Amino acid sequence: MESNSATEPTPFDDGEFYDVIMGQMADYDLAFYRQLAREAGGPVLDLPCGTGRVLLPLLKEGIDIEGVDLSAEMLARLRQKAAELGLQPRVQQASFTDFRLDRQFALIISPCNSFVHNLTADDQIQSLRLCREHLLPGGLLVIDTFFPGSQFLATDNQRVLEGEITHPTTGNRLRMYDSRSFDRVKQLFDSKNEVEELDADGRLLSTRRFSTTIRWIYKTEMELLLRIAGFSRWEICGGFDRRPLEVETDGMIVFAWK
Ligand SMILES: C[S@@+](CC[C@H](N)C(=O)[O-])C[C@H]1O[C@@H](n2cnc3c(N)ncnc32)[C@H](O)[C@@H]1O
Repeated sequence: MESNSATEPTPFDDGEFYDVIMGQMADYDLAFYRQLAREAGGPVLDLPCGTGRVLLPLLKEGIDIEGVDLSAEMLARLRQKAAELGLQPRVQQASFTDFRLDRQFALIISPCNSFVHNLTADDQIQSLRLCREHLLPGGLLVIDTFFPGSQFLATDNQRVLEGEITHPTTGNRLRMYDSRSFDRVKQLFDSKNEVEELDADGRLLSTRRFSTTIRWIYKTEMELLLRIAGFSRWEICGGFDRRPLEVETDGMIVFAWK
């Protein structure tokens, strides 16, 4: 699957590897979505569901949840994990901008900074419109993304060590680097990632490279997008604790009701 302008692989071309690099981050937001799903009192759509990081634990708890994702490889990994758990997930391969499901949802979630893969205003609006269409009256859309503060936008072309983890099966060290470049006019950033695998003696065994392009969104711009897509009530918070978004180092968690 390609979500970047270049022809390089994306992190979503290999679901198993995606799960490895998500590593210890795997459940950082799970309690938040579990609570929302329990409160929703109706079906839940996970958009995009990726390898089922959020969808599978909720399905296992008996929540009526289905998913959409563009990447066949991510969905293949989701199905493999579901089979191991004895679960039968409902998932569809489609884009944010053209999914069509046969029912409406009490809750639509877009976890882990995924909405920013919409690279144009047309796609952002189309995606929000489709979400609104797929919500039951009074239904809630929740989007987890980030606020593009000046600190975030200041790391041009520096190769930054983002983290180091242990590969869960080989036991080797994985060092994850990211180099970002920004087009501040188009609000696009390219992220070039390298993951180095090192043995116990620190010898470099392999380097995997992939890249993504995303489009960041400001708070007031998000409000305009929601308005254009037909939403009339929303709240934009700075974190999962629902504090108001007031400082530029905050996250950006969008709650929008139909
Ligand atoms: C950062 S991952 C997050 C996956 C999942 N939501 C999670 O929390 O683990 C981003 C996901 O967006 C999907 N994606 C990228 N562009 C997409 C598009 N246009 N339509 C639907 N899914 C897309 C990728 O395949 C990938 O699974």
